Formats: sequence, structure tokens, C-alpha cells
Amino acid sequence: MKNFVFQNPTKLIMGKGMISRLATEIPADKKVMITFGGGSVKKNGIYDQVKAALSGHKTVEFWGIEPNPAVETLRKAVALGKEEKVDFLLAVGGGSVIDGTKLISAALLTDQDAWELVVAGKPVTKTVPLAAVLTLPATGSEMNSGAVISRYETKEKYAFYSNYPVFSILDPEATFSLPAKQVACGISDTFVHVLEQYLTKTGVSRVMDRWAEGILQTLVEIAPKIRENQHDYDLMADFMMSATMGLNGFIAMGVDQDWCTHMIGHELTALCGLTHGHTLAIVMPGTMTVLRETKGDKIIQMGERVFGVTEGSRDERIDETIRRVEAFFRSLGLTTRLSEEGVGEDVIAEIERRFTERGVHFGEDGLVDGPTARKILECVK
Ligand code: NZQ
Ligand code: ZN
Repeated sequence: MKNFVFQNPTKLIMGKGMISRLATEIPADKKVMITFGGGSVKKNGIYDQVKAALSGHKTVEFWGIEPNPAVETLRKAVALGKEEKVDFLLAVGGGSVIDGTKLISAALLTDQDAWELVVAGKPVTKTVPLAAVLTLPATGSEMNSGAVISRYETKEKYAFYSNYPVFSILDPEATFSLPAKQVACGISDTFVHVLEQYLTKTGVSRVMDRWAEGILQTLVEIAPKIRENQHDYDLMADFMMSATMGLNGFIAMGVDQDWCTHMIGHELTALCGLTHGHTLAIVMPGTMTVLRETKGDKIIQMGERVFGVTEGSRDERIDETIRRVEAFFRSLGLTTRLSEEGVGEDVIAEIERRFTERGVHFGEDGLVDGPTARKILECVK
């Protein structure tokens, strides 16, 4: 195990009816800007619960943070927040609303343009305090310090780091209204978050391996049940916990991490508009195939412990595990090939060009540059 420092300050508030706790969790003297997406919270009653809980607070609302939050939209929220002199932010929504609000929380305290903060690539820790009410389990943004911000004008999408939410409220009932596609993408995103922190080397940490495998096994078990009944409270609670625990640092202590599948996925979203979790379902089988030599031992461990693959030669077990992973994504109702989404050679060429121009070397061994990203994408054409 490698040396590490671990600290996650987010207070997790989980369960039915817990949105009412907003009344006491946010100090009464704060002026709160509440941020929202496109309006799903008005249809499922979450907006009414939030407003009722904050009836004693001074609030300002900002609507319209879109999926893959755009800096062009977030700049407007920053201007409103400055004008209204808000000193607390509450994000109500999925990863996009929470991520966008993280950038707002940093940009409120500076004159620098929000996009400059993103491309500077340095964590911003001077921020307005932020909390979240989560409505979509997927990104882990409710309990991490990351955000992913898009710039529509130039079709770019980059990670940005700031502070953790002070607290996050997770009510599984908030997920009952999710469209099936978002549930599928949320499960796929969670599954791949775990793989990015797990599918590297064997023998580094038994504890991290088994925590990660526990989340993977949970997802494989609950996914078909959720497809049958998305209104089962305990199933959705397990889904929420899997997503939060999958990307809040708990399974990353002292182990290698990869993230190349995410980096390629972000380009597919930026260039073609594919939903985040869906891009990962397409790219991950390609990553496993191209990096089968360096990741082989861990792929075999995963095949055995998560999918029960124990028969055959080394190569056969690796092949079968990759097949099971792709079949899992397809069982969610997602396509797993670029051609099925009309993504062609021009996009592969542009991703190779961007990675080469940026001089990137993603993955635990730094093996994923432009030409390797091309190979990965060619595998899943
Ligand atoms: O905007 P509204 O109307 O609220 O609708 C949203 C949106 O259209 C809808 N939705 C959310 N909760 C709902 C609901 N509809 C009905 N009922 C509910 N309870 O779902 C749509 C998608 O929402 P979005 O927030 O975009 O999804 P997600 O949570 O998957 O977030 C995706 C973004 O997070 C980034 C992705 O790159 C992408 O930009 N990520 C953030 C990470 C992080 N902060 O650590 C890590 C991830 O790897 C990921 O990259
Ligand atoms: Zn993700």
C-alpha cells in the first residue's frame, strides 16, 4: 500500500424525509443561493420540500444548470450571486448541478473568469460554503471535491477541483422519478468509478480490493431488480450508497488509479453530446482489451470475485471477464459500440489529435496517449 492522507469532511445525511433538516443544517443568518437544473425537481416534489425547509431563510434561486454544466451558464449564476451577495450555496439536483455549483462557489470570491479557474488546473480552496440535495446517484459529487465543467463554445470538457460540500442530503425517494436512461447511466458511471480505482494492480491492498468488489457485486445484484422496480426504497438506497462510496475517496486509499476511460469519455461527451455514464459503457471494454497485459491479473481477480469466472486459460478468463462487463452494460439497456451511436472515424481522429497535442499520458502506468486512445476506440467501433 502506498502512503496516503485521507480526509473527507462532508456530513452525509441519508434517508426519507431528511430534506427537512435543511432548516437547521444551514445557519439561519446565511443568504442562500439555491441552484437547480431544468425543472425535474418541480415535478417530483423535491422543490416544495426544499422551499418548505428553507422558509425561514433568505433565498435566491438560479435555474437552468444543464447536464454537463456549461461555463457559459455558470457565469450568469456567478453574476447573480455577486449581485445578491449570497454567502451559502445549495445545489439541488444531479452531478451537473452540484459540479456547476462547485465552480460558482469558487468564482464568487474572485474577479477571475470562471473558465480561467478551470483551465488553470489548480484546486481552488477559497470558496463560498456549499451543500447539496442529491437527486441522481452517479457521480459521487455530493461527497467529493471534484467537478467536470464544459465550455460549449469550443466543445471542451475538463475536471476542476475545489471544496467538498459541507453536507449532502440523500433521500432515496428523490430517485423514484429518474428516467430509465439516467438510472442506467448512473449505474454505469458508478461501476466505472470503482473500476478506475480497482482495475490496476493486484496485491496492493486487500481491504481496498474487497470494498471495491463489494460495490461492484452490489451493482450487479441490484441492477436487474431496479429495472423491475425503481420505486423500491431499499434498492435505491443501496444504489445511492454505492454511488457515493464509489467516488468519495474511501476505496482509493493507498492504491493506484487509472481514469483513462473517463478522460476518453469526456471527449465523447464534449464532441458528440453522449451522456457521461453511457460513454463509459462504450469505452471501458476497449480499455480492458487494449491494456489486457498490464491489467490482466486484476481482470482475472475481478472475473473470479465479481462474475464467478474460474474456468479456462489466462487469456480465456480475461476474454470472458471483458465479455461479462460489456454484457452488464448492455443489460442496463445501454449500447456499447460507437457505431450504434453514429460516432465515426472523424471523432476518433479528433480525440487522438487532442490527446497528442496536450501531451497526456493517462492510466496507472501512463500508457494512454493519443495513439493508445485511438486503439481503445477502434476496439469498440
Ligand atoms: O436538470 P433536471 O431537470 O433536474 O434533469 C436532470 C438531467 O436532465 C435529470 N434528473 C436528475 N435527477 C432527477 C432527474 N430527473 C428526474 N428525477 C430526478 N430525481 O437527469 C438529467 C441528468 O442529470 P445530470 O446531473 O447531468 O447527471 P449526472 O448526475 O450523471 O451528472 C453528470 C455530470 O457529472 C460529471 C459528468 O461528467 C457530467 O458532467 N461527473 C462528475 C464527477 C464528480 N463531480 O466527481 C465525476 C463523474 O465521473 C462525472 O464525470
Ligand atoms: Zn464518471
